[in-house]
Amino acid sequence: MYLPSKKLQKLPPYLFSIINKLKIEAYAKKLDVIDLGMGNPDTPTDPEIVNRLCETVREHPKTHRYPQAKGIPKFRNTVAEWFIKRFGVKFDPDKEIIALIGSKEGVAHLCMSYLNPGDYNLVPDPAYPVYYNTTILSGGKVYLFKLDEKNNFLPDFGKIPKKVVEKSKIIFLNYPNNPTSAIVEDETFFKDAIRFAKKNNIILCYDNAYSEITFGNYVAPSIFQFDGAKDVAVEFHSFSKTFSMAGWRIGFVVGNEKIISQLEKFKSFVDYGSPTFIQLSAVKALLEYERIVKTIKNVYETRMRLMIKEFRKIGYEVSPSKATMYLWCKLPKKIIDEVGSLKFAQVLLQETGVVVSPGVGFGPNGEGYIRISLVTTNNRYHDAALRFDKIFKHFGVNLKLKK
Ligand SMILES: Cc1ncc(COP(=O)(O)O)c(C=O)c1O
Repeated sequence: MYLPSKKLQKLPPYLFSIINKLKIEAYAKKLDVIDLGMGNPDTPTDPEIVNRLCETVREHPKTHRYPQAKGIPKFRNTVAEWFIKRFGVKFDPDKEIIALIGSKEGVAHLCMSYLNPGDYNLVPDPAYPVYYNTTILSGGKVYLFKLDEKNNFLPDFGKIPKKVVEKSKIIFLNYPNNPTSAIVEDETFFKDAIRFAKKNNIILCYDNAYSEITFGNYVAPSIFQFDGAKDVAVEFHSFSKTFSMAGWRIGFVVGNEKIISQLEKFKSFVDYGSPTFIQLSAVKALLEYERIVKTIKNVYETRMRLMIKEFRKIGYEVSPSKATMYLWCKLPKKIIDEVGSLKFAQVLLQETGVVVSPGVGFGPNGEGYIRISLVTTNNRYHDAALRFDKIFKHFGVNLKLKK
């Protein structure tokens, strides 16, 4: 019998694998599935990007060869130009930028590049599960620090025990946040984070996967707009949500030259990077950034408002998000106390075909919430809300009666 490594054995199946299994069962039962589960954009990639890909693959067979793992110069130069235009921050495209096969890959390999057995990674709770999982796969330890609603889902660095901080190598921060959709408007947060990382010799991994999916007047910053960040930080960016390119597998990381060089070294042993024709398509995306992103943001903002409106009709109040493609919804108290988010999500899916992510899947402190991804067409949110109502009632909660 071939046993997987102890590290792999330590991990339960990935949250979305469990949900996917239930989803397949729901389809098999011929349920009308409304998928609000994974943050997997449903709108197609911009046709000009698609055209660039087809043209490049057809006309430039050299792009069929192994890519340059760190990213071709054209990609890195375009990222550098975009960063100046978008955030006013300069990076050396040779030393401070590398292409990634999606930011998930970069997050995983960064953990593997730096963690030794016994080293801590400071991980938000709740958070994108990959921070936790890849720490375990790296042989490191996870310390979960809470993001609580009463603190606007921001961490309190002072609450992390000194003994843990001393053994910590990495901290992950991610705003606009998955899963809570929280943003940071107070600049002192960034300054405190940089000071905390510097004082304790910790790598600050700022995951900015949702920096462009923001609503109203809010513009998300880069950690590099704050003094001292280049001494301690790297920042991950993704094309998946920004450009609806989740399946293309391309992203990038910018930041501290030494950290970037170690990640580059690690990657040189395990991958060849994102295909050259994908990198060239991503260049097109960055060059047409304003036009493409405007449309995508509008789609999510419209859906977010629609979902909130439909929920209100059944008496379920959910706060609007200022960013991301998610709604982080607190479950009614009776359901939190008696059912829990996982069971609620399971019953909702099995009985009605509505797929959502249980908050507990993002960490124990996510219990009591569910995350809705706004990745289905506008005409589905009305039905989704009615099906929520049905399952709330199934568990003895009639929100309208309460009013
Ligand atoms: C916070 C966060 N970081 C990173 C990623 C991964 O993005 P990519 O598709 O670039 O690997 C996701 C995807 O859901 C995410 O939510």
